[in-house]
Amino acid sequence: METVLSGIRPTGNLHLGNYFGAVQSFVKLQEEYKCFFFIADWHSLTTHPHPENIRKSVKTILSEYVGCGIDPEKATIYIQSDVREVAELYLYLNMNAYLGELERVTSFKDKVRSQPDNVNAGLLTYPSLMAADIIIHKANKVPVGKDQEQNMEMARKFARRFNMIYGVEYFPEPASFHMTEKAMKVPGLDGSGKMGKSEGNAIYLIDDEKTIKKKVMKAVTDGGPTQPDSIKPEPVANLFTMMEIVSTKDTYDYFNDKYNNCEIRYGDLKKQLAEDINAFCAPIRERILAISSDDAYLEKIARFGAEKATESAAKTLREVREIIGFRP
Ligand code: ADP
Ligand code: TRP
Repeated sequence: METVLSGIRPTGNLHLGNYFGAVQSFVKLQEEYKCFFFIADWHSLTTHPHPENIRKSVKTILSEYVGCGIDPEKATIYIQSDVREVAELYLYLNMNAYLGELERVTSFKDKVRSQPDNVNAGLLTYPSLMAADIIIHKANKVPVGKDQEQNMEMARKFARRFNMIYGVEYFPEPASFHMTEKAMKVPGLDGSGKMGKSEGNAIYLIDDEKTIKKKVMKAVTDGGPTQPDSIKPEPVANLFTMMEIVSTKDTYDYFNDKYNNCEIRYGDLKKQLAEDINAFCAPIRERILAISSDDAYLEKIARFGAEKATESAAKTLREVREIIGFRP
């Protein structure tokens, strides 16, 4: 059976973009594949977070993963720093990773520009840690967004290079994986672009009904169409896209017809959309809240995941050590 793996850096709460763009597919994939979903807390050290923040954000994302329906019995959910073997493989990969190629990675160049006071070696070697994450479980498929393409290219390169240097066919080359033909993009409701944490337009899975309503009612629209069947400008199209994602087809068609007949009342549309977003989020939100207050359950999940992930990683490391020439 093929292995699927993905990681998310713990940087705050999950929003609808994270859910429909990533987590929803994790929930589906766990039914068909051997899955590893992990929290990339080592990667987050590049920004020097306070210990209290690490503890909090790791707990948040663990509760949210499970609240969204990732099942710790079906998939292996673990925290990266619980699996020390990853660090050992990272060391080996770094010995064959060259300064030039690491410096050419776009996200590294971006960081050099955006945070010139903190260009640390962890940032430079981010792709080799990510490659170690992936190949330690010999993952074949990695569901990630387009922004991770270059890191995936590096992971394939490091896997191939290891095989070549030691004359083995040991690591498979991991492929990026998209659930749908076209990667799903959840729009922001503030006019243009995608929903994102740093865009400041996110609707979070744990937002309560009032907060959701406030955010949706604030959405940017226009004066309304003046001619039947006119093309929707981006802010309005984004509202409809969101409706397509969370509402029923009947609801969508109803408002779409109203738009096409120039009878649309954006206030009504937003009210409906806020209700539908809330109806979608409410059960997830309740599960997240229940789980996040149950420290014993979270601890149990983390320990169980760490055990399963360590077993898989330790097997790889025993074989890798032998291939390299160390005592197994
Ligand atoms: P953010 O910083 O906005 O929370 P990240 O860049 O950390 O998002 O992305 C985490 C995951 O969520 C990635 O797999 C990414 O592709 C997905 N994602 C984030 N925003 C969206 C969006 N608006 N539409 C679709 N997928 C998204
Ligand atoms: N770099 C990914 C991101 O920023 C997170 C990540 C770390 C990851 N290791 C991974 C994703 C391994 C997939 C596989 O979103």
